[in-house]
Amino acid sequence: MYSKDGNMKDIKTPRICDVVWHNGEFIKWNDARVHVMSHVLHYGSSIFEGIRCYSTKQGPAVFRLREHMQRLLNSAKIYRMDHPWTLEDLCTATVELIRQSGMDQCYVRPILFRSLDEAHPAFGVNPFPNPLACYIGAWDWGKYLGDEAIEQGVDVCVSTWNRLTPNSMPAMAKSGANYMNSQLIKMEALLNGFAEGIALDDRGYVSEGSGENIFLVTGDVVLTPPLSSSILPGITRDSVIQICQELGITIKERTIQRAALYVADELFFSGTAAEITPIRSVDRITVGRGGRGPITEKIQKLFFEITKGERQAPDNWLTYVNETKTAPAKNNGHAPARVKDDSDTTPILSFQTVAQD
Ligand SMILES: Cc1ncc(COP(=O)(O)O)c(C=O)c1O
Repeated sequence: MYSKDGNMKDIKTPRICDVVWHNGEFIKWNDARVHVMSHVLHYGSSIFEGIRCYSTKQGPAVFRLREHMQRLLNSAKIYRMDHPWTLEDLCTATVELIRQSGMDQCYVRPILFRSLDEAHPAFGVNPFPNPLACYIGAWDWGKYLGDEAIEQGVDVCVSTWNRLTPNSMPAMAKSGANYMNSQLIKMEALLNGFAEGIALDDRGYVSEGSGENIFLVTGDVVLTPPLSSSILPGITRDSVIQICQELGITIKERTIQRAALYVADELFFSGTAAEITPIRSVDRITVGRGGRGPITEKIQKLFFEITKGERQAPDNWLTYVNETKTAPAKNNGHAPARVKDDSDTTPILSFQTVAQD
């Protein structure tokens, strides 16, 4: 799939929405520009989200919009970004943007960043003097890890790069700067002929892919690393946990050793872009029978039925764009799943203690 000279095939982008939401109004795609001396370009001061809108019989439907926007607000809070936008504002803007785009399905990208006040420029690391800018764009995006990945699975490696340490860069904030680490993981994987890299945390336990959470199946039990393994609290991860509970599959958060990846019966990634993608080999060691395993397939099937609006989600996960209002708030936008784990007493989308093996 990828050549070794760095000339990579990229994800298909059949269509881009020609309007962008900016600080409360819709502007043309061509007018959505920033100054090159903006703080964000030099110091990585952005936080963002990635959200999918699916095509359903009832028109376009955004998957777990409120949870994504709540994570954006959480990321903003962590980075002391004092902005005026509410959960409601951001959800309404997204629905309206998709409606204006005329697209039936798309990927939505909200971003909040430190910009430049051209009348009173500030060029230092200190972010506070710089104004905040918020944009939401959308485009139609193909399969993130390749067209065949969803059925066939992907070949991955364990990265030589570790995931961020919790006391350096918070992995639970989806900040642009975190993706410098992701880029190192991704580039190394691609240049070595793999579709993706899995990073270990600073203690050597499995963390996540450059843009996906990871799940391991052993026997009839599904395991996933806890938040303390420096992972992003993935919305798809949370959905997988709830789907497992719905299907009566035992799901646990556990610290996972690298070697456990090699002897797993099944492995799969979860993520908004990657959706649920099986992993068929790690470091050229075949996982299970070397394709999509039966438990992965079961979870994937239910996930796609839910996102297509063919089956009721465990919770209110789809926001139908053609309905004027966004989905009602539940627990301030969160309906966090609970994981069967003796050491786990906190919600999935908040800080967690280490789950011991
Ligand atoms: C580093 C990282 N981990 C995990 C995920 C999966 O998160 P989600 O399911 O919310 O898209 C992503 C994608 O956003 C990611 O970039």
